[in-house]
Amino acid sequence: MRVLVTGGAGFIGSHVVEALRARGHEAVVFDVREDTGADVRDPVAVARALAGVDAVCHQAAMVGLGTGFGDAAEYVSRNDLGTAVLLSAMAEAGVRRLVLAGSMVVYGEGRYVCPRDGVVRPGPRRVADLDAGRFEPRCPACGAEPAPGLVGEDAPADPRNVYATTKLAQEHLAAAWARATGGSAVSLRYHNVYGPGMPRDTPYAGVASFFRSALARGEAPRVFEDGRQRRDFVHVRDVAAADVVALEAGSAPGLLTVYNTGSGEPHTVGEMARALADAHGGPAPVVTGEYRLGDVRHITADSARLRAELGWKPEVGFAEGMREFAADG
Ligand SMILES: NC(=O)c1ccc[n+]([C@@H]2O[C@H](COP(=O)([O-])OP(=O)(O)OC[C@H]3O[C@@H](n4cnc5c(N)ncnc54)[C@H](O)[C@@H]3O)[C@@H](O)[C@H]2O)c1
Ligand SMILES: [Zn+2]
Repeated sequence: MRVLVTGGAGFIGSHVVEALRARGHEAVVFDVREDTGADVRDPVAVARALAGVDAVCHQAAMVGLGTGFGDAAEYVSRNDLGTAVLLSAMAEAGVRRLVLAGSMVVYGEGRYVCPRDGVVRPGPRRVADLDAGRFEPRCPACGAEPAPGLVGEDAPADPRNVYATTKLAQEHLAAAWARATGGSAVSLRYHNVYGPGMPRDTPYAGVASFFRSALARGEAPRVFEDGRQRRDFVHVRDVAAADVVALEAGSAPGLLTVYNTGSGEPHTVGEMARALADAHGGPAPVVTGEYRLGDVRHITADSARLRAELGWKPEVGFAEGMREFAADG
């Protein structure tokens, strides 16, 4: 198969390219970072790149929480305008297979069960609570602290920041494209991806990267809130493998199919900081009580659907992956 990998020079995209080639596929990199400076918002460049392509793996995006609301237009431009330009070029060129780098950020807060009210959907946390160190979300009905659980693909979307909003819009665009063209679209909703090649020291990087950079400077990783916020850290090679199986399998024509893509093994951010600090030989993490308004408290995936339908399973365990990541520089 000849696959166009947008964002193919990026962290996850470069692993996708490697995994595709290892499986005997042809991967064509399309990235603003490459010498060619190929931008997904450029219809001419995209149309040229689609020649002879069987499938597109769309990784190109502006990622992370950014530096403030001032980034909003650039997020929407790169992520949503970019996706729209790509999809209309695919419609024109007759390319009918798409795998999109989706994200768990579309869910907002994860799944919660209140002992009294059952499954509930806590809204954004209040600044006054966060300032007072009350980090757990409240049950919207009774105010109790509901227990976090695993979020399934059918959970309602509830994007909490600009980036999350653009990731959700990408899926809606992909669904509209699939309906209009009979194409098959898959969105892999990645959870917290980490591993070799992870971007560092930018406001757009992930938390594992911040911690590792601090350790490399001889500083303690600074863990926000109380460190007990839960995430699903999934290794980048496992994510790349999920992209490859999704590209090979295709999916129902005319539809967008979504899959959570996580390790299935939740850990707290504090545990992750400790694992990295241990592997690095210190210093031990400090819990600061700081917070970021756009952050959610707990978000962990139920990735059973991806395992059952596409036969994917993660191969890199948490301890092993964090050791490798800490050593990666
Ligand atoms: N890293 C994570 O934990 C994570 C989690 C969920 C989803 N994702 C998604 O995975 C995808 C890849 O993210 P990543 O972590 O590898 O980030 P990254 O920044 O390393 O890679 C993104 C790549 O896209 C390229 N790009 C950006 N705008 C472009 C444009 N307009 N035209 C062409 N190329 C452009 C960048 O140059 C970069 O190489 C993104 O869609 C992101 O939303 C990442
Ligand atoms: Zn309740």
